[in-house]
Amino acid sequence: MEFVELTTARLRLRRPVESDIETITAVCQGPEIVAFTTVPSPYGREHAEAFVTEAVPHGWAAGTGCTWAITLRDDAAGGLLGVVSIHDVDDGAGSLGYWLGAAGRGRGVMTEAVERVVDFGFAQPPEGLGLRRLQWQAVPSNAASARIAQKAGFRWEGLRRAAVLHRGRPQDLACAGLLASDSRAPQDGWAPVAP
Ligand SMILES: CC(C)(COP(=O)(O)OP(=O)(O)OC[C@H]1O[C@@H](n2cnc3c(N)ncnc32)[C@H](O)[C@@H]1OP(=O)(O)O)[C@@H](O)C(=O)NCCC(=O)NCCS
Repeated sequence: MEFVELTTARLRLRRPVESDIETITAVCQGPEIVAFTTVPSPYGREHAEAFVTEAVPHGWAAGTGCTWAITLRDDAAGGLLGVVSIHDVDDGAGSLGYWLGAAGRGRGVMTEAVERVVDFGFAQPPEGLGLRRLQWQAVPSNAASARIAQKAGFRWEGLRRAAVLHRGRPQDLACAGLLASDSRAPQDGWAPVAP
C-alpha cells in the first residue's frame, strides 16, 4: 500500500527518511532499547540504513508492515523522537511495536501515537488496514510498554513461557490483544511485571 501520514494534536507521524539514520543509530544504542526490543545489538549505522531504505519501504509496499517516524508538529525541523509500527501484518492481524529516544519520553508521546496508529489499524481501507486484531508482546518487566498498551485498551491474554531467545537468553513474553470490536477503554487490571 501507499505510505499514509498520520497526525494527532501534537504529533506528525511521517515517513522515516535517510536524514533520520544518525538519530536512529544513536537511539538504538540505549540500554532500554537493547533490553526491550529486538533491534540488532550491537547496532550500527548499517542497521539504521537498512531499516530506513529497505525494511520500512518494503513493509509498506508489501502491506506487511506500516512504520512511522514520530515527530512533534511544532518542531519545524521534524526531528525523529521515535518509531511506531504495525508489523507482521497477516490474515487480518498485526503486531504493535514502538520505541522512543530519551528526549521523547515521559510526556505521553507514545500513548498519543499508539492511539492514532490503532485507529489506522482498524479503519477500513484506504483510510487504514481494516484489521480484525492487534497484538502487543513484551518481556514481562517492560512496565512502561505495558502501561501504553493498557491505556490503548489492550486486553491481557497471558504469558508465553520461554517463548523467545532474547539476546541469547530464553524470555517469557507477556501478551495482550485488541479487537476492532473491543471498546478502547483503558484496561487497568493487568500488569505483567516481573524482575
Ligand atoms: C516504552 C516507551 C516508548 C514509553 O515511553 P514514555 O514516554 O514513557 O511513554 P508515555 O509517556 O506515553 O507513557 C508511559 C506510561 O508508562 C508509565 N511508565 C513509565 N515508566 C514506567 C515504569 N517503569 N513502571 C510503570 N509505569 C511506567 C508512565 O507513567 C506512563 O503512564 P501514565 O500516563 O499513566 O502516567 C519508552 O520507555 C521506550 O522507548 N522504551 C524502550 C523501547 C521499548 O520498550 N519498546 C516497547 C517494546 S514492547
